Amino acid sequence: MSLSLKSSNPNLVETRADIPRHVAIVMDGNGRWAKKRFMPRFFGHKAGVDSLVKTVLACADRGIDYLTVYAFSSENWKRPTEEVTGLMGLVLVAVAKYLTKLADKGVRIVIVGDRNQVSDKLRQAWEQAESLTKDNTRITLSVCFNYGGRWDIVQAARAAMQAGVKPEELDETKLASFMSLAHAPDPDLFIRTGGELRVSNFLLWQAAYSEFVFTDCLWPDFGEAELDAALASFARRDRRFGGVKDAPAASLQSA
Ligand code: IPE
Ligand code: IPE
Ligand code: MG
Repeated sequence: MSLSLKSSNPNLVETRADIPRHVAIVMDGNGRWAKKRFMPRFFGHKAGVDSLVKTVLACADRGIDYLTVYAFSSENWKRPTEEVTGLMGLVLVAVAKYLTKLADKGVRIVIVGDRNQVSDKLRQAWEQAESLTKDNTRITLSVCFNYGGRWDIVQAARAAMQAGVKPEELDETKLASFMSLAHAPDPDLFIRTGGELRVSNFLLWQAAYSEFVFTDCLWPDFGEAELDAALASFARRDRRFGGVKDAPAASLQSA
């Protein structure tokens, strides 16, 4: 990424080169947001859906091509049955409420995660969202649901074996082609709301060189101002990918 066009105002993101192509978000803090309002956790999840819809449209407006969000982790099954059931039901409500709007706004929706454990109804809602939006090109929203970074690596390894890939043929590019986010470049910017400083099994493979922004903002409070602050922080980063800035790379042979 070229940083030579950086503005003297650090909060102004003014060049396309400084805009991440792919943003990933751990949408955390819904429960605490609801608790602060003396409401059940579900109230926070519901507000979180509205936040997601606003954020995907804000990302599209800013020229971001891919937004990937963590909606339900492989570990979230450990939550009380009532909360898990509520979250599954919320997906159906969200699809009914927002699918047409997102489709009309040019959003392509892709669902990422293990679909085996979810109900037929939910699988059908995912399929409906994907098929209705498959030809959209403005922004790709990947919703990670029943997803874990470790699950993804294991399923990719299995898929590669099933496809007959020989051990000597397997390299990073080959394995990446079987990963569940093979339709997107690696995330440039990884945001986690809710104040926790951890990855919680999100994008373990893909975030190898992502830039991280952690914010105390609870997910239902996340909006354009917080997105722009994260983008401004990203624009100030010096991404070296292991290299040295402005120096020619040595070839492997000369090492
Ligand atoms: C994130 O918010 C949403 C999901 C994990 C589904 P949380 O529900 O984890 O909210 P907190 O972290 O308890 O506040
Ligand atoms: C991560 O949040 C998962 C999602 C946002 C979907 P959690 O709330 O589940 O993560 P931990 O338990 O704080 O690590
Ligand atoms: Mg949480």
